[in-house]
Amino acid sequence: MGEVKELGVGIIGTGWVAGAHIDNFKGIKGCKVVALCSRDLERARAKARAHGVPDAEAYDDLRDFLKHPDLDIVVICTPHPEHPAQTIAAARAGKHIVIEKPVALDPASLHKMVAEVNKAKVLTSVCFELHWMGLFKNIQAILKQNLIGRVFYGECSYFHGIGPWYGQWKWNIKKSMGGDALLTAGCHALDALIWCMGSPVVEACAFSNTSPKNPLKYEYDPNSVAILKFANGAIGKVATSIECRQPYLFPVLFQGDKGTIWNDQLSTIDWPGTPKDKWAKIPTALPDSGDVNDHPYMGQLEYFVDCIRTGARPHNDLTAAAHVHEVAFAINQAIKTKRVVKVK
Ligand SMILES: NC(=O)c1ccc[n+]([C@@H]2O[C@H](COP(=O)([O-])OP(=O)(O)OC[C@H]3O[C@@H](n4cnc5c(N)ncnc54)[C@H](O)[C@@H]3O)[C@@H](O)[C@H]2O)c1
Repeated sequence: MGEVKELGVGIIGTGWVAGAHIDNFKGIKGCKVVALCSRDLERARAKARAHGVPDAEAYDDLRDFLKHPDLDIVVICTPHPEHPAQTIAAARAGKHIVIEKPVALDPASLHKMVAEVNKAKVLTSVCFELHWMGLFKNIQAILKQNLIGRVFYGECSYFHGIGPWYGQWKWNIKKSMGGDALLTAGCHALDALIWCMGSPVVEACAFSNTSPKNPLKYEYDPNSVAILKFANGAIGKVATSIECRQPYLFPVLFQGDKGTIWNDQLSTIDWPGTPKDKWAKIPTALPDSGDVNDHPYMGQLEYFVDCIRTGARPHNDLTAAAHVHEVAFAINQAIKTKRVVKVK
């Protein structure tokens, strides 16, 4: 067998999530963090030292960073509005790209980045890392085994207060930076819902609000709820709150004509030995933490490296994530117009 080429990884942005990506890539065989790019050179150097990659080259210019001779994978860890232009620059430089969510805050930017990535024929991996959380791996297996039958209803919600205790709060509260509650955070729940329903969303209606005192000072409504219709006739709901004060909560419910999944519990008529009034416990890891160090990035990144090595298309690539964002844009439109909106 020939020698496998080492893949050089470069990170753009040197904040909280960047640290998790460096730490995870350090644990992947055949990968090496070779470069970090920040607006501030010293911050990039400090980040490299703090995360045990002191030899990674520090840059404060994106063009120079993209010319690093050993760079194969670019990881975009900056605030949301930077993601489209940085994705396009990395794609034009021929790099494979890991993009933090949300990938874009408006349809025009989204469409441009999808077109450029497709033109460059590079692979992408959008950080909807819950695909690699135990619960969702098991839900996918349960659905594949047809244990709950044909799913007619699904809901996933994201309830996680994002306040001054998080670094991103400073910029995320601004409309121009955060976008809206669903794009900035609830997109994880929307993505999980769409992925498990296995059918695209065709229509949405929605409402949003801010609590009367707006203690976390959001420039946009930090709470929203949307009702969705899927192409296969199923219906669903996604709610988000980033101003709630409670432990992180990601409730999940899928109902089919043979059974139901409710968080880590299953009821199915295919198991005649289980009493009708009892849930079966699904032994698994739950999405119960907002800490990036608890996120299953390792699974996502190992899978991406495998895809790069085999040339397979990642199921969480920009094209798949684009639909999640189109639905979020339609929900936003539904909130504004107080009408049912068709998804493009
Ligand atoms: N997938 C997940 O679960 C997850 C978790 C946390 C964060 N994220 C995403 O990662 C991205 C970064 O979030 P974070 O929590 O690391 O934020 P952060 O504020 O800790 O880090 C952002 C970094 O970008 C730099 N930066 C570049 N341009 C900037 C600008 N115009 N304004 C402010 N900072 C700028 C900052 O200096 C900082 O180093 C966001 O898009 C966020 O949604 C995703």
